Amino acid sequence: MRPQTFQLGRENERMTTLSLFDAERSDGGVDELCPGAMVLRGFAARRERELAQAVDGVARAAPFRHLITPGGYRMSVAMTNCGDVGWISDETGYRYEACDPLTGERWPDMPEVIRELAREAAMRAGFERFAPNACLVNRYEPRARLSLHQDKDEQDFSAPIVSVSLGVPAAFLFGGLRRKDPTLRVPLTHGDVVVWGGPARLRYHGVLALKQAEHPFAGALRYNLTLRTAVT
Ligand code: SIN
Ligand code: FE2
Repeated sequence: MRPQTFQLGRENERMTTLSLFDAERSDGGVDELCPGAMVLRGFAARRERELAQAVDGVARAAPFRHLITPGGYRMSVAMTNCGDVGWISDETGYRYEACDPLTGERWPDMPEVIRELAREAAMRAGFERFAPNACLVNRYEPRARLSLHQDKDEQDFSAPIVSVSLGVPAAFLFGGLRRKDPTLRVPLTHGDVVVWGGPARLRYHGVLALKQAEHPFAGALRYNLTLRTAVT
């Protein structure tokens, strides 16, 4: 396997330089991205079956859909939610809602396997007592991408974000507190869990366009579960 080195620019020189193996490193290791942010390699892999069932169940009750941004663009990533509240976007803005606008019903409950995994990941990353009440489920088709953004629609920034990657690998961009700060390009593969909180909670992040690939878990797709304490 060809080792890849991720060299950071300018202000990020203070951050760790990651030396990773070509999108294949799922060995249970931990990569620190900066203080407060780390990747737990392969952390979710052993629960992939239960996670797949959980995502299926959520999507049956609250189907994946392409949301419209306030600027009028259709997002390339398809989304749904589970938990007390769900993140949505439409012409009027971004927000959390207790009901799914598509069905008019409450979002499905957060499956215990997802909640528990997120709690354990947060704990492993040094964040005790993480109590997520929102789980955004993202589904990436080939070429789908998520532009650089901050997660800032939550009421409480003291809780971390836990983000679980499943299926086709992706390049995750992890930047600074300003949009123009240099970004670190982090390969995320099936089962990897990123946790960021504390001083890293408001760092910009995004996902580069998904490459055409096949993965036994989900064919050509990538799924991502993002857990947050959205309401207090
Ligand atoms: C997000 O920022 O909501 C998703 C990140 C990801 O898909 O890895
Ligand atoms: Fe995000």
